[in-house]
Amino acid sequence: MIAILSDLHSNLEATEVVLEECERLGVKEFLCLGDVIGYGPDPRAVAEIATRRFTASLMGNHEEALVTKRHRFNPHAAHAIDWTRKQLAESPAVNGQHPLDWFAARKPFVLRGKMLLVHGSIYDPVHDYVDEPENPVESQQMIETLSRDFAGFDLCFAGHNHTPFMATMLGTIFPHDGHREFRLPPGHKAYICVGSVGQPRDRDVRASFATFDGEMLTFHRLDYDVPKTQKKILAAGLNRFLSERLGQGI
Ligand SMILES: [Fe+2]
Repeated sequence: MIAILSDLHSNLEATEVVLEECERLGVKEFLCLGDVIGYGPDPRAVAEIATRRFTASLMGNHEEALVTKRHRFNPHAAHAIDWTRKQLAESPAVNGQHPLDWFAARKPFVLRGKMLLVHGSIYDPVHDYVDEPENPVESQQMIETLSRDFAGFDLCFAGHNHTPFMATMLGTIFPHDGHREFRLPPGHKAYICVGSVGQPRDRDVRASFATFDGEMLTFHRLDYDVPKTQKKILAAGLNRFLSERLGQGI
């Protein structure tokens, strides 16, 4: 079984809870869709986990901003990524590589068998948001995209929107506590947005990720110590909004 994680955003408490659950589930491999860092208070610890444990870890828009200093972030995000760069610049090497060099070497997408991994979407793997389900007209376009453009792969796992859902040829499915497991037979095409480990934005504060065994896809939500992370954000001098949004899932 593999775990697909995204948007950890330097949230160590959420990341540790997810790793513990994956251990319990017997996960053999971790694939990360990007945004390991940014916003949160523990970039060094979370980057070290990503370096040591993730088989793939993509270039998200926060990794890109970290290494290029080019972005269109709001002031809170911009301050956080500058603070993150300073933290990582003073970090020791992990596995013989400096963390900033490791982030600079991230790839924008990975094709693995019938699975394409991106941070954003198939059109712009780093920046584009898959947000069609919020608009009925765009939802229809999404179905056309699945049939027309999903060639060479069946499943596209995406992050970036911090909201878990699955777009299929039949429509969009939002997982909830009553229904979290879905069977994806071979040839089934789907955009699978795994949500965010460290900064969920679907008004559910629990860490979000997915597991896949080649046929069964499961969306997971896990409680973690949100107040602890919130206090660390304030202690690091990061913006209060970045702390408050964790408590609201926005
Ligand atoms: Fe993100």
